[in-house]
Parts: sequence; C-alpha cells; structure tokens
Amino acid sequence: FQKKVLAGKKVLITAGPTYEAIDPVRGITNKSSGKMGFAIARAAIEAGANVQLIAGPCHINTPLEFTGQVQRINVTSAQEMHAAVMKHLDADVFFAVAAVADWSVKNIKDEKIKKADSSSPSLEFVINPDILADVAKAAAKNSKPYCVGFAAETNDLEKHGQEKLVRKNIPMLVANIGPDTFGLDENQLLIIEQSGNKKTPKLNKLALSRELIQLVSTKI
Ligand code: C5P
Repeated sequence: FQKKVLAGKKVLITAGPTYEAIDPVRGITNKSSGKMGFAIARAAIEAGANVQLIAGPCHINTPLEFTGQVQRINVTSAQEMHAAVMKHLDADVFFAVAAVADWSVKNIKDEKIKKADSSSPSLEFVINPDILADVAKAAAKNSKPYCVGFAAETNDLEKHGQEKLVRKNIPMLVANIGPDTFGLDENQLLIIEQSGNKKTPKLNKLALSRELIQLVSTKI
C-alpha cells in the first residue's frame, strides 16, 4: 500500500542517455540504461502523479498499466530533449535523471563519412544546453518545478555533488554511490540538500524511487 502523496501533481522526468549523431549511421552516446528514470516515473505514478517522461534512446517499456497517467516523449539528442522539457515548465517537480551529452557534434554530416586508408576524421564539438540549469532558472522565477538533479561521479562524490547543487541552483541533488551503477537493478544514493546529506541503503531502483518520491512530496 502506498499513499497517493503526489495526487494531482505534475511530474516531469528525463531518463536514459542522449545520442549525438556524427553522420547518418554513427553517433556518440553513453552508458545510461534509463532504469533509474523509469523507476522514478513508476513511483511517481503510483503516488498519483501525472507524469511526462522524456526518454532518450533506451529499451525500457513505459509502465503500460498506467496509460492514463503517463505521457512518454521519445527524443534522441540533447537539443531535442531540451526542447521537449521546456514545453512542460508548469510541472510541480522535475527529476533530471537523464545522462545528457555535454557536447554535440558540429557539422553533422548528411552522408556517411567514408573510410580513408591513411587518415581518420577529427570531430569538432559544440556545448549542449544544460537542461536542468535552464529549468532551475525558470523555477527561480515561477517557484516551480522543484528540481532534483542526479550525478554519476567517479570520484569525490560529496564534494562534486555539493558543488553541483550550488552551480545549478537546485534544492536537491541525488548522487549515485558508484562506482558504476549503469544498467544495474540496485543502487545506493547520497541525497544532498543544503541542510545536509543522507545516505540510503543499497536497494533496488524502484524501492529507492519510492523513498525519493516520498521525500520530495514533503518539499512541495
Ligand atoms: O554535472 P552535470 O551537468 O553532468 O550534472 C548532472 C545533472 O544535470 C543530471 O541531473 C543531468 O540530468 C542534468 N543535465 C542536464 N543537461 C545537461 C547536462 C546535465 O539536464 N546538458
């Protein structure tokens, strides 16, 4: 039994990786499986929320038993994810779970780059928009959505997490206590707020998501 702590609330979630094209058949992506973002979507739905799930390319089914309560929007690149997110700034809560590419390829080629025997292509990059920072900027004006950021770090988790909280101007940052939880069913989290940090036990991602939803519901 779970209390409907988010009944009537709108929850916006980004999940999965992004894919940045190089040419029509090649691209750059990352190891995000989407499991954590989709688990948060499920927990939010269970808690009675209406969920907009903006998903990068990943192989997870939308929780179908909740069709009326969840709208999934599939995107590919960080730019597309940014555009999709910005249409839903009226949400009450934003969980930025996606592993968004920091850069996209400049001058994406219209045709497949041909292999040459003696040379390799070099890529130039452009910086992608920071989706979470942009939502946080809007939230500073409109007093919503309540923004929750995520972090996967390889070192100095606490320090980097706290820096991220300040740099992105968000009230909560959830850091994966790694080293590498990509694709796994279990995770352990360090929840960072200005008032202090809290470590969760190691649990499956749905159980963790239910805890997070419970916690966030007390903040809005
Ligand atoms: O340090 P970093 O920018 O990677 O912070 C990670 C957090 O920011 C995650 O919540 C991620 O979803 C979000 N992010 C974003 N847009 C970006 C980069 C990161 O929303 N371009």
